Amino acid sequence: MAEKKIPVDELRSGMFVVALDRPWFDTPFGAGGFEIRGQEDIAELRRYCRHVFVEVEDAVEDTGEQETAPDQEAAVENALRRAEETLSRFRALLGDLFREAAGSPLASLAGIDALMPGLLDGIDEDSDAHIWQARLERGCCYDVAHALDCCVLAVAFASHLGWSRQACHTLGKAALLLDIGMARVPRHILDKPGRLTAEEFAAVQRHVLYAQEILAQAAGCGDEVLAIVRNHHERINGSGYPQGLQGEDISLPSQLVAMVDCYTAMTSSRSYRDARSPYQVLNQLYGWRDSYFRGDLLEPFIRFIGIYPTASLVELTNGEVGAVLGQNRPRSLRPKVLLMLEGSSAASPCFLDLAAEENSDVEVRRGIERPPPGMALDAGLWRGLGRELSRGGTGQPREGAFTGR
Ligand SMILES: [Fe+2]
Repeated sequence: MAEKKIPVDELRSGMFVVALDRPWFDTPFGAGGFEIRGQEDIAELRRYCRHVFVEVEDAVEDTGEQETAPDQEAAVENALRRAEETLSRFRALLGDLFREAAGSPLASLAGIDALMPGLLDGIDEDSDAHIWQARLERGCCYDVAHALDCCVLAVAFASHLGWSRQACHTLGKAALLLDIGMARVPRHILDKPGRLTAEEFAAVQRHVLYAQEILAQAAGCGDEVLAIVRNHHERINGSGYPQGLQGEDISLPSQLVAMVDCYTAMTSSRSYRDARSPYQVLNQLYGWRDSYFRGDLLEPFIRFIGIYPTASLVELTNGEVGAVLGQNRPRSLRPKVLLMLEGSSAASPCFLDLAAEENSDVEVRRGIERPPPGMALDAGLWRGLGRELSRGGTGQPREGAFTGR
């Protein structure tokens, strides 16, 4: 099935609406899409939209060379393995940079410049594999994991928008270094489980100023990277810090990484709060459109992330539960899924491409914000699965992976 954009007035009963001409959050319609059941549905849609996207049959050319399921699974595993090879080099480098930054200014960013072309190539080839792998915790500290998560998502989104390779390189480099100044914020404040005092919050905010000191003399750190890092907590309504800049005074790359920084931080677990679901966070970000973030940047970002974001959980119409392994853009209702749970029992993780013809009878019933009973699906499980796939292992879950921490 493909998607076709049509005016609301051309809708007919039985058509399945998969996307609107505006974000779902702005309407009473559920984000999972819905079937038109009559004139009432069309009249309701007309109140909000001029155009919508509906599913239509594909005109498939039979090449006689269809990929088999094992071929697809092997391709997914290879993509994940290559992505992890690239990201593990960045983790090692970032660990070194954060340690160095705690005690002295960085001398050079040549290491990032050397690795970045490989990451840009990899994201061009398979952005979802990199987004997935960057979301897995690998036992490294939060600062390193978050820097890489932010970098991968920012570059993937910018590349999706058609930004040049040089612009993506600069953006990715800056995204890695947004929070390098955290290396100088006392650890007991960063790891404090409760609410921060005003003084502690001010100490955290100083990470932006520390970053300027850390990066000022670093070879390979141009003015643009410095500006992006300096402005990643600015908000277009002037409520950000450290300068309270407004609107166009904040460059587009700064605004993009600010948005991605928020999304990745809010969907990650911290010592003082649990991770929020991608759906909750996107909804929250949408509430900040044109106050914190430009609407014309935020809305494409929400569409890029997808209705069922990569690394989020979904329940299928056949009762199985899995994690979204990648998108089939623009068919956002039919992602690639890694199955993990059948009914209430653990399943051997296996790959299911919902866009494949043989899976046309299965759909996503809903996104899941919390793991269902019998399935303690948290970052620990992602880690186990990702490690198995990265090693080219069997994909079998570790013992106890589904039964709690
Ligand atoms: Fe920050």
